[in-house]
Amino acid sequence: MSGRVGKRALITGITGQDGSYLTELLVSKGYEVHGVLRRASLFNTDRIDHLYHDPHQVRPSVLLHYGDLADGASLRHVLETVQPDEIYNLGAQSHVRVSFQIPEYTADVAGLGTLRMLEALREHAERSGRHVRYYQAGSSEMFGAAAPPQSENTPFHPRSPYGVSKAAAHWYSINYREAYGLFICNGILFNHESPRRGETFVTRKVTRAATRIKLGLQDKLYLGNLDARRDWGFAGDYVAAMWLMLQHEVPDDFVIATGTSHTVREFVELTFDQVGLDWSKYVEFDPRYLRPAEVDFLEGDASKARSILRWEPTVGFNELVRMMVESDLELARQERTLINAGHNAPERGRATVRQV
Ligand code: NAP
Ligand code: GDD
Repeated sequence: MSGRVGKRALITGITGQDGSYLTELLVSKGYEVHGVLRRASLFNTDRIDHLYHDPHQVRPSVLLHYGDLADGASLRHVLETVQPDEIYNLGAQSHVRVSFQIPEYTADVAGLGTLRMLEALREHAERSGRHVRYYQAGSSEMFGAAAPPQSENTPFHPRSPYGVSKAAAHWYSINYREAYGLFICNGILFNHESPRRGETFVTRKVTRAATRIKLGLQDKLYLGNLDARRDWGFAGDYVAAMWLMLQHEVPDDFVIATGTSHTVREFVELTFDQVGLDWSKYVEFDPRYLRPAEVDFLEGDASKARSILRWEPTVGFNELVRMMVESDLELARQERTLINAGHNAPERGRATVRQV
């Protein structure tokens, strides 16, 4: 490891939406950031490429290590190599609908994967005597059918293999904190979005589609349940909460949410309004996007985080939609320019036909 004086962080899920914003935040605070990268046949580092420098050329602040939450040996090896001060366990198969299609894999990565990471941490802490702080990426999906507003005191009633796996990860984390005295925090984060959101989550699916329809690149948008309510915040605000939890004197669990909620239909209306289109002419129902069990209403009560961590969301619902629409309009314009110049539409433009 380099002789850097700042802290060292290890992030699983560094290539995901939250991993990229968290990496930016930690680098801005002088951290050396190490990420666990899973092997893929195509490059999967788009979201962090702007932060990554060729280690042959400059002293890097971001370094990547191959590993996988399904492979405990790789996690132990990365932990021993990096010797981090803080661990952020963000890696997961994070798509709720997909978790009904690949439940065992989802449980293996989101549930057991957390246990593998915690065991690696326990062994490392015992052997080295080092004090490492650990953040676990929990989810409002754990609340499932529990009535809103949901807080740290609301009992879990998960409604998907993903939600059940996250609830297991939450309790594994509490168990390791109580049993071994480790500094472990559970964040219970409500939905958070951004221009970097995966294109099969509903918000990004909608902003991509509306902007592509606007530029004549797509005709229709197919959606499932428009009545579900979610408490949508901005991912950049939520990674700040993760960091704040690990700076607190004692390890604890915190709900992170805006405290306001909207239906999927309201998100669709506002998005299409922003590009000057009437949504009802373009949006069609497709039952394949329904879930075998739905989570109807999530709205968080983050008063504990507001009072203890002094955490506040800075981006409201309208601003979030505007930010995502602006970014996707620019992508659609680039796509249009390529097509006008006689090139095929880029691969990502086909996301609309993927069945999730
Ligand atoms: P995301 O964009 O789907 O990113 C997931 C990350 O996990 C990616 O880096 C992915 O790698 C990695 N990953 C997947 N399988 C893995 C495996 N077997 N081993 C190691 N890494 C693996 O998710 P996100 O929105 O950033 O969310 C971050 C975390 O917070 C997740 O655990 C999610 O479940 C949780 N969470 C998210 C929200 C939300 O609204 N965004 C709310 C509550 C909780 P690839 O890039 O290679 O796929
Ligand atoms: N993805 C998707 N696609 N969702 C749709 C669609 C569609 O075509 N049509 C309607 N929806 C509804 C879903 O049924 C759900 O009620 C809501 O839109 C939100 O779906 P997602 O954006 O896929 O998010 P999620 O709430 O299921 O899960 C996200 O938030 C969790 C926190 O509560 C994910 O980021 C999870 O990883 C995260 O833990």
